[in-house]
Amino acid sequence: MLLVLGGGIAAYKCLELVRRLKEHGIAVRCVPTAAAEKLVSPLALAAVSGEKVYDSLFSLTDEAEMGHIRLSREADLVVVAPATADLLAKMANGLADDLASTLLLATDKPVLAAPAMNPRMWAHPATRRNLERLAADGIAILGPAVGDTACGEVGAGRMVEPAELLAAILARLEPACRPLEGVRALVTSGPTHEPIDPVRFVANRSSGRQGHAIAEALARAGASVTLVSGPVAIPDPPGVRTVRVETAREMAAACEAALPVEVAVCAAAVADWRPAEVEATKIKKEAGAAPPLLQLVENPDILAGLARHPTHRPRLVVGFAAETGALEAEARTKRAKKGCDWILANDVSRGAVFGADRNRILFLSGDGPAEPWPELSKEEVAARLVERIAAALGRRPA
Ligand code: C5P
Repeated sequence: MLLVLGGGIAAYKCLELVRRLKEHGIAVRCVPTAAAEKLVSPLALAAVSGEKVYDSLFSLTDEAEMGHIRLSREADLVVVAPATADLLAKMANGLADDLASTLLLATDKPVLAAPAMNPRMWAHPATRRNLERLAADGIAILGPAVGDTACGEVGAGRMVEPAELLAAILARLEPACRPLEGVRALVTSGPTHEPIDPVRFVANRSSGRQGHAIAEALARAGASVTLVSGPVAIPDPPGVRTVRVETAREMAAACEAALPVEVAVCAAAVADWRPAEVEATKIKKEAGAAPPLLQLVENPDILAGLARHPTHRPRLVVGFAAETGALEAEARTKRAKKGCDWILANDVSRGAVFGADRNRILFLSGDGPAEPWPELSKEEVAARLVERIAAALGRRPA
């Protein structure tokens, strides 16, 4: 979201607004006018938004990093608060003499303005004229509220409270932010532990970070998510139903119980084999005795099982492939063998994927060429995958 701040006393309320928006997972970029910067510091806005504050039309670094046209178009919604009489007049007349007004003229996104001014200024025929024009241009106006104004006069002119503005913003952003509303999704994550005896098990190095990030991103996009997780040291993601399991067979059963779903993403590093027998008591190390032999049997393949499910195959089944060479060929073979729709392959030969922050994915969605993704954080991989899922389900343009 882009927040254009005009120079009204109510600008201070925007710090609270930005904080509340961030709590809802909404990224906010602030553009204060020069007058607004006298009332609320760019540093405070940067601190609460966690983003750079944009305030100068002619800053060359900003123009190189992000042109003002892009800045105005990347947001899903532009909010003007407080919308002063001056800013509303500029908007109504298409003036563009600073960054804030230029963005408002350049944007192709919905604009919501929360006016704040002296009651006489609000009632003035010039402001009335401007509001009529703005309404005709499709600008939504929220408020002002009636009450005491900062200048001591009573009447219509107070900016609406942050809670009211927040509700109006959420109502407008929700459809854009939540393309997977109503979609049921299943995600597997983490390793599995396959017991040898009551104290020992066979396992692997998976941290669960990638699977958990995908579950969280799907939930944020509005999906109703069941996360089936093996033993991990990271917290359950917010807004997700997490089912904790230990073994591959428990994971398979929990996945079956979560069906039907429209999307399944298998990010778990499921142990391919488990000890054939689990000893009821700890295996003792006897002096001079030969080490015990571990007889392994194959675990169920959860991904293949979902992709070939006789009655409840999800519309979209996504698997991962951790490989140590010939990435694309291996991914292609794996996709065919498992019967899944997409494979996200990564090279684990350098040992940097398990538990690491970043991931380099080769994305394979069909028989066409595989798509190399740049090196991304696991959260960014999750966000990119969710975009693709939304597009594949017809929830967002590809
Ligand atoms: O065969 P491989 O383990 O390389 O395949 C990796 C993919 O298959 C991952 O998506 C993993 O979650 C899934 N898988 C599974 N059940 C298994 C083995 C792998 O779901 N038993």
